[in-house]
Amino acid sequence: MNDNFDVIVIGGGPGGYVCAIRAAQLGLKTACVESRTTLGGTCLNVGCIPSKSLLNLSENYNKAKKDFINQGIELSDVKLNINKMMSNKDKSVKVLTKGVEFLFKKNKVTYLKGKGVIFSKNDVVVYENEKKQSYKTKNIVIATGSFPTSIPGVDIDEKNIVSSTGALSFSEVPKNLVVIGGGYIGLEMGSVWSRLGSKVTVLEYLDFITPGMDREVSNEFKKILTKQGINFKLNNKVTAVTNVKNKVAIEFVNNQSSVKDRIECDKVLVSVGRKPYTDGLNLQKIGVKKDAKGSIVVNNKLQTSINNIYAIGDVIKGPMLAHKAEEEGIAVAEILAGQAGHVNYDVIPGVIYTSPEVATVGKTEEQLKSENQTYKVGKFPFLANSRAKVNNETDGFVKILAHAKTDKVLGVHIIGPHCGDMIAEMALAMEFGASAEDIARTCHAHPTHTEAIKEAALAVDKRPIHF
Ligand code: NAI
Repeated sequence: MNDNFDVIVIGGGPGGYVCAIRAAQLGLKTACVESRTTLGGTCLNVGCIPSKSLLNLSENYNKAKKDFINQGIELSDVKLNINKMMSNKDKSVKVLTKGVEFLFKKNKVTYLKGKGVIFSKNDVVVYENEKKQSYKTKNIVIATGSFPTSIPGVDIDEKNIVSSTGALSFSEVPKNLVVIGGGYIGLEMGSVWSRLGSKVTVLEYLDFITPGMDREVSNEFKKILTKQGINFKLNNKVTAVTNVKNKVAIEFVNNQSSVKDRIECDKVLVSVGRKPYTDGLNLQKIGVKKDAKGSIVVNNKLQTSINNIYAIGDVIKGPMLAHKAEEEGIAVAEILAGQAGHVNYDVIPGVIYTSPEVATVGKTEEQLKSENQTYKVGKFPFLANSRAKVNNETDGFVKILAHAKTDKVLGVHIIGPHCGDMIAEMALAMEFGASAEDIARTCHAHPTHTEAIKEAALAVDKRPIHF
């Protein structure tokens, strides 16, 4: 093998593998180093993909068990086969991770198996078991992702005290599951196990869930999840989590009253955030700077403090989302090929794949207020959308925030059926600088959930038709 590359990408997750493919497409001699046995990073192996598989399968089970009967579909006996459900999930992961390997071959990306260490700004050493191989490169892209954090003093053993990784592979449905942290992971995995029969309690430090989300949507989300049977204990700080025989004891204190409490359960999911993963890369020695939170510092071209070393995805600032990492990967590849790579950070959608889904893009109402921005609000409930009504999926609403004078769309926040897909239309609209009027004047097919978007845009000008 010729061991000189134009670019070596360290990390084969959505940021790294996409960057490698785009760089190779642009004619750069590219390698991607990955230390896991499969490509795809956290997202494909132990994140987005397996969790979405379980969200889909558990939703089907829940519907078959509880909803079908009301729809005239009578099943005599609905049983859960957890092993089969888990093998379905594992199969999805296998197919997709293998798919990335195929894409590498197709695009002539060299796949280097092992742990990549930056030896100097032009040297990467790859360690695989006892083997060690050195490679020369003009550029390096760090795309090593993130790992789950815990609470001080709480050890995640992935048995009874688990991170998202352990919560994807319980061999049986826990009778009681406590989720620490009411964020993306806690609510998605809490929903999975609640649908499969666990009694789920979410302990959250703040007095609301999903920090960073538009508060009106967040409040509605909590209401809907509560209706589905999830129990929320907000404003509580977890102080200790200990294994007691076959159970786990959780101690927590109420932030307002200072009253201490304790609950026992079968399993605990610790989902209190993730941290950039840069261990063993040799960054300090090379002179790649990190900020106080451990994120690699980059400029607007995604260059680190060493100008031929770039960083993308969860290792730098910004939302820890696969699609944000992908955009950055493409931007870096294009910059390296002499093009004008760019990421529009104002238009990064976020989706929580619960039922209903929650999808957002752009500014929240709280952000606009804190920026003293004048804005108009248009809202439309799915209760008044014909498709949602016939499907009996009427929870939620669309909320559009537009500039008070120019009418430019500043943010869109949706809680409701299929909004994880619908948000793409809003991202596109915002990318093109659309006004609410532009959306209102766009013909939306009937009967679809997307009509709720058009109606919310009409509501910005106080002229919805169906509400
Ligand atoms: P998160 O940041 O979304 O939520 C963590 C929650 O834990 C916060 O509400 C926080 O207030 C709470 N918390 C922190 N310390 C606590 C304590 N001691 N006691 C009680 N509550 C406490 O983090 P999460 O859910 O772990 O997700 C990590 C990352 O993964 C997120 O950045 C998210 O963007 C990403 N992710 C994205 C998904 C998606 O796009 N659908 C799905 C899953 C994860």
